[in-house]
Amino acid sequence: MKLFAILLALSSISCRVLATGGLNGLPVLNGPIPIAPLITGSKTRVGDFVHPGLWHTHDDLERIRDGVLQNKDPWAKVWVNFSSDSYSQASYEMQGPHAVLCRGSCSNYTSFTNDVRAAYQNAIMWYVTKNQSHWDRATTIIDAWGTNLTNIIGTDTSLLVGLEGDMLANAAEIMRWEGGWVEAGAEWYGGSGFSNQLYWLFARQSIIIGQANYGMVSIKALLSFAVYLDDVAMYNYALYAYLNEPCAGLYANIDAKTGQSAETGRDQGHAMGGLGWTAEAARTIQSQGTDVYGEGNNLLLLGAEYTAQYNLGYDVPSFDPTFYRCEAILINGPWAVPSNISRGISETSPQVWDILYYQYVVKRGINSKWLTKAKQAIDSLGGEEHPYGSSPDDHPGWGDLLFSYDSKCTCRNDNSLTIWGGGSIGPNGLGNINAAT
Ligand SMILES: *[C@@H]1O[C@H](CO)[C@@H](O)[C@H](O)[C@H]1NC(C)=O
Ligand SMILES: *[C@@H]1O[C@H](CO)[C@@H](O)[C@H](O)[C@H]1NC(C)=O
Ligand SMILES: *[C@@H]1O[C@H](CO)[C@@H](O)[C@H](O)[C@H]1NC(C)=O
Ligand SMILES: *[C@@H]1O[C@H](CO)[C@@H](O)[C@H](O)[C@H]1NC(C)=O
Ligand SMILES: *[C@@H]1O[C@H](CO)[C@@H](O)[C@H](O)[C@H]1NC(C)=O
Repeated sequence: MKLFAILLALSSISCRVLATGGLNGLPVLNGPIPIAPLITGSKTRVGDFVHPGLWHTHDDLERIRDGVLQNKDPWAKVWVNFSSDSYSQASYEMQGPHAVLCRGSCSNYTSFTNDVRAAYQNAIMWYVTKNQSHWDRATTIIDAWGTNLTNIIGTDTSLLVGLEGDMLANAAEIMRWEGGWVEAGAEWYGGSGFSNQLYWLFARQSIIIGQANYGMVSIKALLSFAVYLDDVAMYNYALYAYLNEPCAGLYANIDAKTGQSAETGRDQGHAMGGLGWTAEAARTIQSQGTDVYGEGNNLLLLGAEYTAQYNLGYDVPSFDPTFYRCEAILINGPWAVPSNISRGISETSPQVWDILYYQYVVKRGINSKWLTKAKQAIDSLGGEEHPYGSSPDDHPGWGDLLFSYDSKCTCRNDNSLTIWGGGSIGPNGLGNINAAT
């Protein structure tokens, strides 16, 4: 009986190890994608997807480009720093690719972190300047990793997939739909390049969603991967999880009564990070034409106000010790009071304030005292840039450039404007989507 129990335990451990990937040989799946109930925003057919449609739609990219070219703030002032950042250079020297990466106790993925950021920033540089050298840099990085990375191991595989993997997918989405890039290895009989990796190695691994901020990383990445791959089932699953996942969805991350984060008692870095990942997930859903920023009577804003107030050094009105993350035991919880670990707003704290500020305060015109103060606090330090420290791909940064609006708007997300193949605007001001040029 005892032996049987031990064997069972061992086999569940080896299942978990196997489930962290393996593109060499037979791909290891995490089971079928669960079929989610249809809700507002669900896709019903593959043609429902908007492209580009992860963090940036065509309209979003045009807003950035116009702001820079017309020398308008906030875009123009941050462009100076963005365009001179080392990751934005066409001369950026690639540090990879490698076949196997680990995130966990054997972490060795910094080459990927740096190369992914360079691919993303060069994609934005290309979009704004249309300079071929940035097109080349972005796409050679995506192709190099896309054809050579075959496995990710370690207990925090989901984080590497959900953070670096998502940023790389964002670079690829821009280059594919706006730049006419066709990935290396694409063949009618099945490819060996980026999307093959994205599907087998990244997306199917992230189907395991963890808890709280960690789980939201997987949800936001799955939304991105699903859009890139035009995967209806995966998108609906991730959208449903964003709203309903009981340990990782919006309502599991933010307490609807107090606004505290499920990580507030743990430390402020994870509380702030969770806000950013929830905002990035909502951004992809917005790109796909559905608003969830307003979900739960602007619950994400309530969460931002709470965490901003506490991190600006003020007491918060209330803390409910019975609202905490699933599996709190893994990290020494639950907790009696908000944690002061990593409390504060600094250059090294997660870069999450801009995306929230522009979405709620500027685009929607909602007065938000603490969020506005948090934005001012980060601006007084020079503004959000590419983050420093060991996890510079946790959030995109550069919010004044990448996520800004200059006034209230119901900005369009219309993929008929997308210029497929790098062509020019067609008659009626529409892009020539899906038409070879
Ligand atoms: C990372 O570590 C794993 C496991 O030790 C190893 O297989 C892999 O080659 C390493 N990758 C790099 C880039 O060092
Ligand atoms: C394009 O970028 C490269 C590398 O940064 C630069 O040398 C070149 O002058 C740029 N070309 C134009 C037309 O601006
Ligand atoms: C990646 O893999 C491809 C094909 O497997 C190979 O040709 C290439 O040299 C590798 N390295 C880079 C940097 O692309
Ligand atoms: C953080 O909180 C602990 C108790 O929860 C307290 O002992 C410590 O002094 C506080 N540290 C700071 C820097 O406020
Ligand atoms: C640009 O970077 C410099 C130096 O780090 C900093 O002082 C300045 O505030 C930054 N400006 C913006 C708009 O981010």
